[in-house]
Amino acid sequence: MAGKKSIEKWEFGDFQTPFLLAKKVVEVLKRNHNISPDHIIEPTCGKGAFVLAAAEGFQGSQVHGYEINPKYVDDANKEILSKNLGGLSKVKEADFFDTAWENEISSMQGQLLIIGNPPWVTSSELGMLNSKNLPEKTNFQGRKGIEAITGSGNFDISEWMLLQHVSWLSNREGAIAFLCKTSVARKVMRQVRQSKEHKFFGHIYPIDAKAYFDASVEACLFVLTTETGHADCDVYDSLESTTPSHVIGERDGIIVSDVEIYKKWRHLKGQDSAYVWRSGLKHDCSNVMELEEVDGGYINGFGEKVDVEDTYIYPLLKSSDIGNGRVKSYRKVVIVTQKNVGEDTSEIMKFAPKTWDYLIQHEEYLDRRKSTIYKGKPRFSIFGVGQYSFTDWKIAISGLYKNIQFNIIPPMNGKPVIFDDTVNLIPMGSKKEADFIYMLLVSHPAKEFISSLVFLDEKRPVTTKILRELSLKEVAKELGLIEEYNEFVMSSKADNQLDN
Ligand SMILES: C[S@@+](CC[C@H](N)C(=O)[O-])C[C@H]1O[C@@H](n2cnc3c(N)ncnc32)[C@H](O)[C@@H]1O
Repeated sequence: MAGKKSIEKWEFGDFQTPFLLAKKVVEVLKRNHNISPDHIIEPTCGKGAFVLAAAEGFQGSQVHGYEINPKYVDDANKEILSKNLGGLSKVKEADFFDTAWENEISSMQGQLLIIGNPPWVTSSELGMLNSKNLPEKTNFQGRKGIEAITGSGNFDISEWMLLQHVSWLSNREGAIAFLCKTSVARKVMRQVRQSKEHKFFGHIYPIDAKAYFDASVEACLFVLTTETGHADCDVYDSLESTTPSHVIGERDGIIVSDVEIYKKWRHLKGQDSAYVWRSGLKHDCSNVMELEEVDGGYINGFGEKVDVEDTYIYPLLKSSDIGNGRVKSYRKVVIVTQKNVGEDTSEIMKFAPKTWDYLIQHEEYLDRRKSTIYKGKPRFSIFGVGQYSFTDWKIAISGLYKNIQFNIIPPMNGKPVIFDDTVNLIPMGSKKEADFIYMLLVSHPAKEFISSLVFLDEKRPVTTKILRELSLKEVAKELGLIEEYNEFVMSSKADNQLDN
């Protein structure tokens, strides 16, 4: 179990910034953004790395540090005095959530810089720790106010704090410079864009969070400068870069990861009703539903031998298989209880009695599935299933992997392959069609278009929502292959009519 000290460290997001990193940040602000503030605020300054770096780097500015931990307040003030910076710099003991920031700030005239490294902890983690170190304490369980601000019940405390800083600068000039998770920077940018006056321009500089904080998360220096414009966000390669490598922005109602590349291929955007991306199968019960083939029989996730008919069994490829290109054979099979969402499952009893018995024997796990989607549905229901699940040929891409890698998936062992729900797929009528559509997807225009929408550092970078932004018809036109495209669409329409 974690000790008291490490729990407190977690609760207060207590990871002090190395002085050298704080110094580098100040250099970036001066070199790339010409910042010369009159007043500098470090709202959660800890032992004062940013207070000291800012006092040394922006000589003549007044530096105001605030910190909840009295020991750190002492440490920081001692360091300030020992460096002879006491004339213009001071750290006060203060709880961010109780401080009357409007009063503090109104007495500071001129350009304001808000700098620092807030706690990297989420509200749900604090909930687990039963912590009170949260905004709007009395209202927290109600969460309404916070949800309205952050758009979610669970939020990063740093996101909430950054949005406060944004509001402090709503009617004055200045800048914000914070170390935070890159996902937080993007969420704050989204909020900024939603405000009517796009007053801020964002700048993201990736930092190595593992090296500096031993944290396995994508993190950055996030700078917001007050400039009117698009509310775009420049992305740099590192703290050493002087020019951005690309720009993130909102175009045509979507957040694009590279506005220049998107601009080049935006004519490929469009809904393509002939080829629609789908998600794979959702059952929320892998120990029961996923089986491994061993010595001609099956073993489930509990290590039990399973004797079931082949009727409802299909080869399974998971995101890890697709993402790693392991698509020539399968390691597991899955029980697919329905052909369509909501279909009556009682017929399993008739067509495959051993399978039905197996499901009944494990009903406690299946009936206990938490998601509300299973409520009021036939027993042993699954989701992410439809006619599209049962075509022999498919094109698939993992949603979780940090590469954009499409795969053609043939039938295996005489049956169509089923994917887990983190895989995106399009059903194909034949191998020939799969080869053709694959060629469109891996073409330079399609790849660039998709890459301009994908944020590879997201938990699930490739989603059906993103993939559906690309019209394969437009790609075919771009490549001079529209006739072939139309032929495939016509023949799959004809097949569907024959089937019906
Ligand atoms: C990630 S550390 C960074 C410290 C400092 N900003 C730096 O860059 O080294 C976050 C700091 O926030 C302080 N903190 C946490 N909750 C706070 C609160 N409610 N009010 C003020 N400071 C707080 C912690 O004590 C800790 O020193």
